[in-house]
Amino acid sequence: MIFHVLTIFPEMFKGFLNESILKKAQGKGVIDIQIHDIRKYSKDKHKKTDDTPYGGGAGMVFTPQPLFDCIEKVKKMAPNAPVIYMTPKGDRLTQIRAERLSTKFTQLILLCGHYEGIDERVVQHLVDMELSIGDYVLSGGEIPAMVVIDVLSRLVPGALGNDESHLEESFSKKLKRKKEYPHYTKPAEFRGMKVPDVLLGGNHKLIEDWRKHHLR
Ligand SMILES: C[S@@+](CC[C@H](N)C(=O)[O-])C[C@H]1O[C@@H](n2cnc3c(N)ncnc32)[C@H](O)[C@@H]1O
Repeated sequence: MIFHVLTIFPEMFKGFLNESILKKAQGKGVIDIQIHDIRKYSKDKHKKTDDTPYGGGAGMVFTPQPLFDCIEKVKKMAPNAPVIYMTPKGDRLTQIRAERLSTKFTQLILLCGHYEGIDERVVQHLVDMELSIGDYVLSGGEIPAMVVIDVLSRLVPGALGNDESHLEESFSKKLKRKKEYPHYTKPAEFRGMKVPDVLLGGNHKLIEDWRKHHLR
């Protein structure tokens, strides 16, 4: 899976991409994350990417020129990739929606807004899908894009140490889209708090029943 991220803050992605599962998955070549700096596409002599909103009001709006040029260039590299604008107005990202995206596409273009948002002509002419990570407003689309990359990367075969890991997790089909059962590890007793006996017994049928019973 190849993720193209369009942002005016490319530095924000450095730490995120170089740790843990994402770092390993990139190392194995099962995912690739390409960061495109929107500002580089600005034809303004000061590399400006925003301006005041028509009709007045607080905040600034991304101008269309750098976004059109940037998206058109990235589209040439990834013609079949949908352009996904991260916005609180979009469809909510859920596990099911993430699974659909991961099976339908091999590349995604994630557009990160800032300020008040982006010029509507970009949305109407270039954006294929609007995606929200929840009903709250963040300062920019970078964290939402990171959330999409993380969620989808877990679904790419070979990305996790054990490919089975994502099959039995909260919201997975196997757990009937419910929330996962509780986990325990050693020691069997800690400060007087005991691990349920059934999990220590080694009877797989009983353990499975206990786990099913503890889905939420
Ligand atoms: C301050 S927000 C703009 C909010 C916009 N004026 C509104 O009321 O819907 C700036 C940018 O952050 C991103 N953003 C903020 N909250 C988000 C969310 N919940 N999901 C996805 N993207 C979000 C979007 O890219 C948005 O363009």
